[in-house]
Amino acid sequence: MVARVIPVEPFDLVVFGATGDLARRKILPALYRRFAEGQMPPEARVIGAARTPLTRAEFHAVIAAAFDEFMGADAPPPADRAGFFERLDYVTVDARREDGWLDLAARMRDDVVRAFYFSVGPSLFGPLATGLGRFGLVTPDTRIVVEKPFGNDLGTARALNQTLAEHFTETQIYRIDHYLGKETVQNLMAVRFANILFEPLWNARFVDHVQITVAETVGVGGRGAYYDTAGAMRDMVQNHMMQLLCLIAMEPPYSFQPDAVRDEKLKVIHALDPVAPGDVVRGQYGADASRPAYRTEVENARSTTESYIALKVGISNWRWKGTPFYLRTGKRLRARASEIAVAFRDPPHSIFGEDAPWKANTLVIRLQPDEGMTLKVMIKEPGPGGMRLKDVALDMSFAEALGDDMHIPDAYERLIMDVIRGNQTLFMRGDEVEAAWAWTDPIIAGWQNSAETPPSYEPGSSGPDAALTLIGMDGRNWREIR
Ligand code: BG6
Repeated sequence: MVARVIPVEPFDLVVFGATGDLARRKILPALYRRFAEGQMPPEARVIGAARTPLTRAEFHAVIAAAFDEFMGADAPPPADRAGFFERLDYVTVDARREDGWLDLAARMRDDVVRAFYFSVGPSLFGPLATGLGRFGLVTPDTRIVVEKPFGNDLGTARALNQTLAEHFTETQIYRIDHYLGKETVQNLMAVRFANILFEPLWNARFVDHVQITVAETVGVGGRGAYYDTAGAMRDMVQNHMMQLLCLIAMEPPYSFQPDAVRDEKLKVIHALDPVAPGDVVRGQYGADASRPAYRTEVENARSTTESYIALKVGISNWRWKGTPFYLRTGKRLRARASEIAVAFRDPPHSIFGEDAPWKANTLVIRLQPDEGMTLKVMIKEPGPGGMRLKDVALDMSFAEALGDDMHIPDAYERLIMDVIRGNQTLFMRGDEVEAAWAWTDPIIAGWQNSAETPPSYEPGSSGPDAALTLIGMDGRNWREIR
């Protein structure tokens, strides 16, 4: 099956931080793929901008090497690269110095969409926004894309929103959360709102609990300096997991318009209960024979930052009161597996008697890898014996259902094209980010005040034992990470 490609309008896209890790690993490969799929009109241009003085040819060499390193076997043919590089320019810009800005301003065209992607550290978000304003680069058709972390707490997020608001309207600001660009995450909305089947059951009356898992095998690697100031709560829960929770829990929006969707997500965040310290489990990965411990990797022998976190979250509204949401995420775990499991309640009464025990229906949405959905249902075990029941899986893999040659686009491909199209549905609004921090801050304060050190867990395990107790105390079990 071949995906439909609708070309976007002509644009100038400036990628600040163009020689950095994210730009080389994700942003430029995503743009190259969109080019190869025919989505970029001939007038589209991408301008890399960074502090390093490079010629255009040198920048092309950096990006070609990145394509070789980071694009997999299904990369577009190398022959397409020449066409892409024709549209790929480079400007040396130091956010805090004048000359680069003037050079950049001279290259921008007036009659096309302008997008500025801030793929830089958060300390540069403000100077970049100010530079764009000061050097007259902001036209009505200008958008900025702001990467995470969007603040470090409510105060810093608010201050950043205020700085951006001095130069841009809210409709010009695209706060990116790449989880919203994942095909399977958007599928959560399709599953819920394009089918009649689930909605009548999608509430506390029929749903026993929900588990949201984002497990990673990687450690913090070279990002230790950033990660040790963030931890799993700020790095994953406040943004990516919060978005997953919102999409599962929100009311049906009246349309797929940006504010209709974002209003409903915001209501979920407002309805989240505060989380008591006893409903949080944190952990730090230890070492194994071939890999260093968390503290060694971040070069901080006394670090109390968590590389794993599990939380039990309640939502106080009519739909969800009484249904706990269990969230967990961590690095260096047994497998890379992200999924959402909606565990339904048991039927109220068994007509088949005691020896035909059932297992509750569970809908599992696999976000990555092996994207797909499984619904566990009870059937009769075949054979002439009594009425014995067995649970089986109605299993759907997206790759099989849509055809093996269907390339599932990377989140950045979808999101960058949405920026050019001017569609903010999959981007976070300022009030949404602030509400997420307002919920997060007291949870972090809870452990900061206790100065407790997160227990260590074995690399390659499913996390600290205390996480088993967190859910076990409620008579439930985590799904296995595999
Ligand atoms: C990033 C986090 O936002 O998301 C990383 O900073 C994390 O720590 C990554 O590894 C996970 O993204 P994905 O797409 O690999 O699930």
